[in-house]
Amino acid sequence: MASLGVNIDHIANIRQARRTVEPDPVPMALLAELGGADGITVHLREDRRHIQDRDVELLRHTVRSRLNLEMAATAEMQTIALRIRPDMVTLVPERREEVTTEGGLNIVGQTPDLKRLVERLQDEGIPVSLFVDPDAEQLEACRTCGARWVELHTGAYAEADWNRQPIELARIQEGCTIARQLGLRVNAGHGLTYQNVEPVAAIAGMEELNIGHTIVARSVAVGLQQAVREMKALIQNPRHDPLFGQAPG
Ligand code: PXP
Repeated sequence: MASLGVNIDHIANIRQARRTVEPDPVPMALLAELGGADGITVHLREDRRHIQDRDVELLRHTVRSRLNLEMAATAEMQTIALRIRPDMVTLVPERREEVTTEGGLNIVGQTPDLKRLVERLQDEGIPVSLFVDPDAEQLEACRTCGARWVELHTGAYAEADWNRQPIELARIQEGCTIARQLGLRVNAGHGLTYQNVEPVAAIAGMEELNIGHTIVARSVAVGLQQAVREMKALIQNPRHDPLFGQAPG
């Protein structure tokens, strides 16, 4: 059964829209945990557009589940990760002009530098996950880098229309199988919603789903604790027709 990592970046987005102190993602993480979050994820971006250094520092002290720090593979972020010591680092690509993380990392071709960073963090006891598209070549490169985990990018599945969705779902299923055969542990995320999460949660071997925007959006109506509770219920008991998104034929 997959567990739920709640990404709270969008709470910080609301705060930063006014450059004020509220809402504070630190106490909100506690509410997410009370709703059943198995982990809290934050992305400390180079431009600090949402999560701030102070958030990560405080969350390290307050999060009682697991703290997953998403970050770019840079020297600055390596220093921060080694100081903060999150329970996991997820390396993601970062471009200043993007609205959110757009694609998976291209591991093929940048293996030696990335391998050094992965080894450094893992030698210090911080497991590293690489955010990649569900692509066999990328997954092999993840293993070459020595990472213990991958996070499969579910964005293409989330954005696909009904016609394409089963094909994208099959790619994630196959990616999960390949990764596990390579000895990698598997998470997934990006663009998952209350409507599309169940087929991904039902994939055998999927360990954790990282979900942010849809939960924070729903929390406006029902509160964060309840929004997390509802998502956790879907993940723990997904409907068993993994292609239910397909139109009746
Ligand atoms: N996983 C990764 C690697 C991400 O970059 C993001 C977005 O910050 C998510 C998961 C969560 O995506 P969403 O907010 O669309 O649920």
